[in-house]
Amino acid sequence: MKKTCDLLIHNAQLITCADNGRPFGQFNQAAIACKQGRIIWLGPTTEAMTFNAKKNINAKGLLVTPGLIDCHTHLVFAGSRANEFAQRLDGLSYEEIAQAGGGILSTVQATRQASLQELIDSTCQRLAHLKSQGVLTVEIKSGYGLDFDNEIKMLKAARAAGNKLEVDVKTTLLAAHALPPEFKNDRQAYIDLICQQIIPHVAKNKLADAVDAFCEGIGFSFEETKQVFDAATRWGLPVKLHADQLSDLGGAGLVAEYGGLSADHIEYTSTASIKKMADSDTVATLLPYAFYALQETQKPPIKAFRKYGIDLAIATDSNPGTAPTTNLLQCMHMACTQFNLTVEEAVLGVTINAAKALGIDDKKGSLEVGKTAEMVLWDTQEIADLVYWQGQIISNQILMSK
Ligand code: NIG
Ligand code: FE
Repeated sequence: MKKTCDLLIHNAQLITCADNGRPFGQFNQAAIACKQGRIIWLGPTTEAMTFNAKKNINAKGLLVTPGLIDCHTHLVFAGSRANEFAQRLDGLSYEEIAQAGGGILSTVQATRQASLQELIDSTCQRLAHLKSQGVLTVEIKSGYGLDFDNEIKMLKAARAAGNKLEVDVKTTLLAAHALPPEFKNDRQAYIDLICQQIIPHVAKNKLADAVDAFCEGIGFSFEETKQVFDAATRWGLPVKLHADQLSDLGGAGLVAEYGGLSADHIEYTSTASIKKMADSDTVATLLPYAFYALQETQKPPIKAFRKYGIDLAIATDSNPGTAPTTNLLQCMHMACTQFNLTVEEAVLGVTINAAKALGIDDKKGSLEVGKTAEMVLWDTQEIADLVYWQGQIISNQILMSK
């Protein structure tokens, strides 16, 4: 008797991103059967007729990948920072603009003034563009509220936008993104607010999946970041970090010591920190668009990450200051051209390694039995096209079974 399934894709070139001994986990002339939201079988197309499927799709030899994952974004925000782009062209640095009260704080002002609904609406526009590129899981951070109510408002807006567009949104509390102006003369009072009020509330009400901080001269110190991580750990939330973007404060090593999910940016990361990352399975998340937009010259130490077997993820960092983009495919391209990643590293960087950076690799990031049935059928037979064309030409079709 035939087995039943909800969705059967056959005649596909599967880019499974699973560890099957072949580059990209590739599996040609393959079929994939899904039922009740899960992948239940993978095998050669010749064996697919053992299934009776509610929906049948002939992939005609084209590529099928897992749904892509953008594991680092600041998609919820209000206002514009286009003026700062002009200021940077005039020679001011990102840090100088921040020190003069612009930068993150200018987005904070606009975001505090925006209503929840306004934030949901503008986030949906950006999320819709990511989804059009086959991105089905997106991490979204708070960090432009910087007080109790507005951080919560941002996390709620992120979840609501995900629900509306049927994108799986993972939220991250980034209250330690910048020092809000009202705490200018009392940094510790703001850290206390984060650790004693915001994190406990967010944890109790399950509003965030992780906690992040900006460990940098213009952000928070190593010691302050530790306090935030201690509170997150006490409340059972995993940590990640904006680490070593503009200078080496030892951030990547710190997040690794807490068994954190990922160290992000990591242009200035030292070998000592990389060794700690290797010991804790902390993913290195590359944000090549921010590197490009800030015209940075210090590149992340890719060779050392490879040498120590660190998993590399790639994300957009979509935000109004340093990464005005919702083009994840272009970020893959930039990771290759700027940081010398291979096409395979770029593809794994937005699939299985991005899933690891979110702690969801048991469910997502590869096409394997038991994982979530979220696939993308790409109008090409050549995997390099995904990276090469920067999202401009290759159309796709999202295939999901619920
Ligand atoms: O990831 N570096 C800190 N945070 C963001 C930028 C936020 C902003 O400038 O609005 C980043 O690059
Ligand atoms: Fe960021």
